[in-house]
Amino acid sequence: VRRSSVQQLLQSQELEREVVVKGWVRTRRGNKYVQFVALNDGSTIHTIQVVADAEKFPEETLKDVATGACLSVRGQLVASQGKGQAVEIQAIEIEVLGTADPEEYPLQKKGHSLEFLREIAHLRPRTNTFGAVLRVRHALAFAVHQYFNDHGFYYVHTPIITGSDAEGAGQMFRVTTLPPEHPPRTADGSVDYKEDFFGKQTNLTVSGQLEAEVAAMALGKVYTFGPTFRAENSNTARHLAEFWMIEPEVAFNDLQDNMDLAEDFLKSLVRQALEKCADDLQFLNDQYDKELLNRLRFVIENDFQRLTYTEAVEILKVAKQKFEFPVDWGTDLQSEHERYLVEKHFRKPVILTDYPKDIKAFYMKLNDDGRTVRAMDVLFPGIGEIIGGSQREENLEKLRTRMEQMHVEEHELWWYLELRKFGTAPHAGFGLGFERLVLFVTGMANIRDVIPFPRFPKNADF
Ligand code: 4AD
Ligand code: MG
Repeated sequence: VRRSSVQQLLQSQELEREVVVKGWVRTRRGNKYVQFVALNDGSTIHTIQVVADAEKFPEETLKDVATGACLSVRGQLVASQGKGQAVEIQAIEIEVLGTADPEEYPLQKKGHSLEFLREIAHLRPRTNTFGAVLRVRHALAFAVHQYFNDHGFYYVHTPIITGSDAEGAGQMFRVTTLPPEHPPRTADGSVDYKEDFFGKQTNLTVSGQLEAEVAAMALGKVYTFGPTFRAENSNTARHLAEFWMIEPEVAFNDLQDNMDLAEDFLKSLVRQALEKCADDLQFLNDQYDKELLNRLRFVIENDFQRLTYTEAVEILKVAKQKFEFPVDWGTDLQSEHERYLVEKHFRKPVILTDYPKDIKAFYMKLNDDGRTVRAMDVLFPGIGEIIGGSQREENLEKLRTRMEQMHVEEHELWWYLELRKFGTAPHAGFGLGFERLVLFVTGMANIRDVIPFPRFPKNADF
């Protein structure tokens, strides 16, 4: 008899046949005549009920069938008499593959706080919540590739170890093999990176954008999807030190096209999640956030609000709400401002464009006003910024000037400048923070709960 998944069995129409299923015990209950074991194998949020009659399975044969134990069950798939499930397994043989001592196994029947579960990141995938989150995460990752493949984009792999700072923000983790105690020094006493593995200073990438631009200037429509690293103060519910970013980059697109792509892409991803993960999202909706499904449907069905940074500042200045941080043209918006616009003022996703040049990265295209750049941020309810992007500066001299003004070293990015020297083209792209997307779709409150092994200050234990 071939092994079936719990998901397959629950959907099966063929009853009265012998099946084999393997998984982990969620609960065991019963009386002296019969025991009921709820088994889950990760294929679905649901469990299948295994029925063990006392005649065939005296109590001493079931002593290791406790919460957390791993079982292989052979039995007859039958219609269930109980409520809440259509089918169940009448056990013929139960083998305990792995025991879990009830005195020690931390995931007992009672609910656990998400904070506690973070401390047992190696076991939390076995909970309903994390099972659901991880399945949704998978479905979204798959939907990303599906969307781009369907729209003629090529997936390009950009390096993790880089010699440049793509955002010019100095938030990089250094990569080095030099001995920390006694690194080689130059004549003037500074650390000699010529002696390092790559012969120069290197770091973990903060964004694959610059390399994606290289690819877009040859393949037209490309995207990256990989890990990125930021040594910023990420002690918030929206920041990770290691997160996954999706970065499409498209030759000949302008800011308008970029916004259209971002909106269509996000809607398509949310739609896919609703289709593929109906049970998981229903569970998360019922368990944590009764507005979750409504919010997801709302995003799919309504146009995003588009306005400029300058218009947004005007709105915020006359807002009745008291903000912690003042709003002034030229300063970056704080998340309280973004959330006001999205959640109170417009009550829908917002795309802000044309930010002041001084608060945005060097590569963004300068507008004719000389003060703003063709930037766009997509702001989502409960999240704030979910996407950041722009039309890129394609003019060599203008880009040089911007780099100089922003103290970005030309010699580090000579290859990037050459894209403007040889066959330059207008182009645009954006970065979607994958965990912020998963956060939005699952309705979880903390970004540390939507990635299996979160990296944040003072936390790299697992
Ligand atoms: O706005 P950011 O910094 O833009 C870039 O990196 C550009 N190179 C993207 C591009 O145009 N190709 O980051 C993009 C997105 C943010 O909107 C946010 O969703 C996410 O990445 N993000 C983070 N997510 C989790 N933790 C962090 N520390 C993040 N920093 C940025
Ligand atoms: Mg940003």
